[in-house]
Amino acid sequence: MINRSLVSISDFSKEEILKILDVAADFEANPNQKLLDGKVIASLFFEPSTRTRLSFETAIQRLGGRIIGFSDSSSSSASKGETLKDTIRMVSNYSDLIVMRHPLEGAARYASEESKVPLINAGDGANQHPTQTLLDLYSIYKTQGTLDNLNIFMVGDLKYGRTVHSLLIAMSHFNPTFNFISPESLKMPNEYKLFLDSKGIKYYEHLEFTDIVEAADILYMTRVQRERFSDHLEYEKVKNVHVLRNDMLANTKNNLRILHPLPRVNEIHTDVDDNPKAYYFQQAANGVFARMAIIATILGVKK
Ligand code: CP
Repeated sequence: MINRSLVSISDFSKEEILKILDVAADFEANPNQKLLDGKVIASLFFEPSTRTRLSFETAIQRLGGRIIGFSDSSSSSASKGETLKDTIRMVSNYSDLIVMRHPLEGAARYASEESKVPLINAGDGANQHPTQTLLDLYSIYKTQGTLDNLNIFMVGDLKYGRTVHSLLIAMSHFNPTFNFISPESLKMPNEYKLFLDSKGIKYYEHLEFTDIVEAADILYMTRVQRERFSDHLEYEKVKNVHVLRNDMLANTKNNLRILHPLPRVNEIHTDVDDNPKAYYFQQAANGVFARMAIIATILGVKK
């Protein structure tokens, strides 16, 4: 993993993923380890973010590194027409590692090929969000005590939601059963279903989940990705189709935990927030430890 980019969760093997989770646990136990003295990390966000950017920045600060970059591409020379290739060439002369979010699918892979330093994909369009996946896996492991043989429900925008795409690939190492719940127009894309078929992993598709949620170990809610719709009316039709309310959790398993990559819009009613099965804010907090582990491992500063 040392000096390698993380563009897709497929870039890391099962063993490498488990190693990151071990290192994350070590950082959670000891969060202030000054391992990045003298290192400069560039944080390039061409698309809005709260959690990913700030948890990366927190991770870098806790590790004693320094940060350069921008949180809004309108303040960079991209707004004057500079290409991504030129931007990455420049920034990889200034930094030891690049963290990048970009609205276009494939931009992270392209940038990693142009960069002289490793690049971490902080989300590329509807494609992948591998660091979210590592914090999701860390959260699942912490709450379930295992990653193996879990019944995972994914609800909402399974077409454009990059977090479910990355999580599906990572969980394929651990013999899950998937239940996909979405409006017809936002179903899990065929390429991911074909991937599961090739691995012999069971999945079921539904339009509703009220009657089946009792079987879930993990209920992974997602936001309908308004910014990916070209037709606003299509968004309006599907935006509130699946809303989780507290009364729907009455007969669910004790070990059930509700995850959501956040931000939430309407898909989890606020009456769920005080239910002990709601884990999404702790999940976001776990992002700091997972990202400390990813950075420290790629920069080779942590055994
Ligand atoms: N989960 C996530 O990617 O959140 P942000 O868009 O706020 O970074």
